[in-house]
Amino acid sequence: MVRSDTRTHELELGPHRSSCFLGTVAPVDSLIEYLQQLVRSGEHYIRLDEEAKEILRERIREGKRTVKTTPREIRPTPVPSAASLQSSKSTQKEVPLPQLKIEGGNASEKLSSLRKQAEIWDPALSLASLRDTMVFAAGNPEADLMLVGEAPGYEEERRGQPFVGKAGQKLDQILKAMGFSRESVYISNICKFRPALKNQTTNNRKPTPLEMQACLPFIRAEIKIVGPKCIVALGGTAAEGLLNYENQPVGRMREQWHEFEGIPLRVTYHPSYLLHNDSAVTEKRKVWEDMLSVMEFLEMPISQKQRAFFAEK
Ligand code: URA
Repeated sequence: MVRSDTRTHELELGPHRSSCFLGTVAPVDSLIEYLQQLVRSGEHYIRLDEEAKEILRERIREGKRTVKTTPREIRPTPVPSAASLQSSKSTQKEVPLPQLKIEGGNASEKLSSLRKQAEIWDPALSLASLRDTMVFAAGNPEADLMLVGEAPGYEEERRGQPFVGKAGQKLDQILKAMGFSRESVYISNICKFRPALKNQTTNNRKPTPLEMQACLPFIRAEIKIVGPKCIVALGGTAAEGLLNYENQPVGRMREQWHEFEGIPLRVTYHPSYLLHNDSAVTEKRKVWEDMLSVMEFLEMPISQKQRAFFAEK
């Protein structure tokens, strides 16, 4: 069920989506897909501005006026075995894209040359579903740890930096607890442009697989240049974009090592998930356990105090 709370201006995304009013109207299939993506990545609320709420109210009014069509069937997707989750190679679908030219001597120069090409990257811009301000990456070009999100949002687009909004602040806190500064790691997104929405103000949406695929050459090239010891995919969308899995909940992908282009990769919840579930210590602990695994892998010292963060007393 999708329930609107007029006091908090949030939508609750429940488990019975196939029978909700959104599921009976064909033109909103992409919205349904997007809402499902949110649920899969662990989000159960979305914020709506006044305009969006009015559009939804109109949809409800329309739905009441028109004869309902058969609800769209939503079938559970089979979950791959642990073995098939270990390597992305067997499931990777390749779409031919232009070759990137990597110029420069050191990692920083090479990344600059990528950044310039990203600004005018036609495979992404010609989709016409992304906004045209490019947001590249931030941090250390020779970092041991690389964190990959999905796409810039309103704040990231405004400031031209990845992860600088509320989710970014949460990420900074996580990094600090691990003993990293934001400058010591490399932070990037699969999709380099903010996904567009009709009548968009500060609202954001997740990138589609097509949008991520159009930008994939960049993250691949960034990984090659930076050469991190390990990668953390932040959220289900980023994991799906990198590993080319379909409809896999983060809960199924975390707690094991995957691999992207030969580099060990760990999946965890998107930092925004913790923003929406601030009271849920159990969820914080899950993210923290993922980060402890990363710290162990990087052979970082871990204090007793760090090990006990968010643990049940
Ligand atoms: N969410 C992301 O996945 N990336 C950002 O840069 C900001 C929010």
